[in-house]
Amino acid sequence: MSLLVGLFDSGLGGLTVLRRVQARYPHSPCLYLGDTARVPYGTRSVEDIRAIAAEVVTWLRLEGVGVLVMACNTSNALALDVAVAQAGVPVVGLIDSVAAVIDSDRVGVLATPATAASGAYRRAIHASRPRALVTEVGCPAFVPLIEAGRLEGLELREAANRYLAPLLAAQVDTVVLGCTHYPLLRALLQELLPVGTRLIDPAEAAVERLGPLLASLGDLPESEQGQALFVAPQHSTRLCVTGCPDSFATSASTWLGCRPAVERVSLRSAGCAA
Ligand code: DGL
Repeated sequence: MSLLVGLFDSGLGGLTVLRRVQARYPHSPCLYLGDTARVPYGTRSVEDIRAIAAEVVTWLRLEGVGVLVMACNTSNALALDVAVAQAGVPVVGLIDSVAAVIDSDRVGVLATPATAASGAYRRAIHASRPRALVTEVGCPAFVPLIEAGRLEGLELREAANRYLAPLLAAQVDTVVLGCTHYPLLRALLQELLPVGTRLIDPAEAAVERLGPLLASLGDLPESEQGQALFVAPQHSTRLCVTGCPDSFATSASTWLGCRPAVERVSLRSAGCAA
């Protein structure tokens, strides 16, 4: 039986990571938990974020995941140690994957307020580029607007202009999408940034790190160990939420291309508080 890849986020954002995992490793079954009862994470206290991560990761462990991908930057920034301690299986992070793909010294990071305040991206980038000027901006309006499906309105555009202003002032040429919801705003951000600005989704590098890990655990077909993928997708994915499954399925269908089956789960059943 194939190793179960576990992913979690507060809501829809982690689907951007899930899609990459599914495309790259079509034989790997995935279990995705969207903690929609508690979205957003990024404006919560550090204590909350750590307590939630402990609960969610405990639930995923009890569901039998064999490897965990942090599909949430906020949990990654503030509770990676908690996730590693609770998971009991290898954990792949987003933030420490980003340094390898940065090739500029003028970098902007868009993230949740909690991630931006943690300085986690700045530290990760400085580890390989100590002289890089890293401008981190917390974007509290983005996740609620994305979760509400309000991607077309003036409110989102105005928020984006506000959050991009410090990056334009710092003349960044590279922008890290430091929240897994933000790849859903890629087209808007690209339009508002100067032509040629590189947008980086850290999940791209993180998902590449999953391959060697799956292979070392004896769980990767030959065809998925190289760059080329010629196999038809055969993934089986279970999508779970702590909030309303119907509204999640409706929103997720926009991003996944079809309406998925979504289960509501109670983390209490795993002995957790949520
Ligand atoms: N998508 C998550 C992240 O990458 C959480 C966003 C939120 O709930 O605030 O940080």
